Amino acid sequence: MRIAVPKETAEGERRVALTPEGTKELVSKGAQVFVQKGAGAEALYSDNQYSDAGATLVEDPAQLLADADIVLKVVGPTDGGSTSEIDAMKKGAITVSYLYPLQNPKMIEKLRANGVSSFAMEMMPRITRAQSMDVLSSMSTVSGYKAALLAADYLPKFFPMLMTAAGTLPPAKVFVLGAGVAGLQAIATAKRLGAKIEAFDVRPAVKEQIESLGARFVGLPEMTEEGVGEGGYAKELSKDTHQKELDLIASRLPQTDAVITTALIPNKPAPTLVTKAMVELMKPGSVIIDLAAQNGGNCEMTVKGQVVVHNGVTIVGRLDLVTSMAHDASLMYSKNMTTFLSLLIGKEGLNLDLSDEIIQGTLITHEGKIAHEGTAKALGGGA
Ligand code: NAI
Repeated sequence: MRIAVPKETAEGERRVALTPEGTKELVSKGAQVFVQKGAGAEALYSDNQYSDAGATLVEDPAQLLADADIVLKVVGPTDGGSTSEIDAMKKGAITVSYLYPLQNPKMIEKLRANGVSSFAMEMMPRITRAQSMDVLSSMSTVSGYKAALLAADYLPKFFPMLMTAAGTLPPAKVFVLGAGVAGLQAIATAKRLGAKIEAFDVRPAVKEQIESLGARFVGLPEMTEEGVGEGGYAKELSKDTHQKELDLIASRLPQTDAVITTALIPNKPAPTLVTKAMVELMKPGSVIIDLAAQNGGNCEMTVKGQVVVHNGVTIVGRLDLVTSMAHDASLMYSKNMTTFLSLLIGKEGLNLDLSDEIIQGTLITHEGKIAHEGTAKALGGGA
């Protein structure tokens, strides 16, 4: 089994799909691992570390891909031009990465037409057995942590209460909107820095988790299970409840120094939780870190990938939070990858159990077809 790890080519992407530690694990299970020279450099994993772990270093990415049975990536393979990664792969090869099929129909069509089997890691089912393969949770942990640090960095105040000879400084007030994996990590990190934290979510089940981290849960009194959708995820609120939610958030904003928003609803644009008028309720110098910037933003004033200032409030829509932590983000991603691969590779080699819920949920193209039912339906391909 020849496993290839190319250097990521997407602009600004510093992660690598497999670390030297992950390499060692795969080699110990009998796989041959081939790594493009310099693939781990930006995540601070050196070529020497890969060689020491048992990998063979390869200079030419086209050669690396042509020989591979399995290609591990972070960002999905490129599908155009002379450097098309999909065209470089052999028929029957497998690629594992983020894919976002509905946003990349051309890529999916090329993978299908070229007979490449592809797995989308972001579509990992949210079941207990798949937790250790769940890249979304891993990367949310990274972005939640970094969001709290950025809030502290952009805020012209201390996070902790300080009692100094020059006087006593009150702690910063942080408000976290959405308490999933990223939100809970943001709370934990802001707490470690000494901030006073309130948090809100539409799923009442998270109240206990928020409180266990030392934050105060702010909820709507009439909130029951309305915000809870399939698989325990959030779902869109009715217009009336959403308005009540906005009123509640607005009532907290004048006292808040930093807002961290993380609210997402599967397969929908991110809900708007902070309107322009609500930003204008905040004190100049306050900060909003919008982790939903990629999906349209939770704040109406967020500009994807940018930092803007409105009425003295800094609104951060940066998209580089995860890649700025490339070393540990790669470590977690790589661990998710090796656990996932242990499901695909049996003692006798490749062993795709197409009846397995995890395989069914993540396998997008296979044997010249779109294998994933939902994707086939949405893209009009034949499953
Ligand atoms: P997510 O990234 O899809 O959403 C983030 C948060 O935003 C969620 O907590 C959601 O309830 C909240 N939200 C949505 N609309 C909102 C609104 N209008 N106002 C305020 N908050 C809003 O969620 P994430 O972090 O991926 O996790 C969701 C759930 O899935 C959690 O309960 C988590 O524990 C569970 N989970 C289970 C896994 C497994 O079993 N393998 C793995 C990861 C998460």
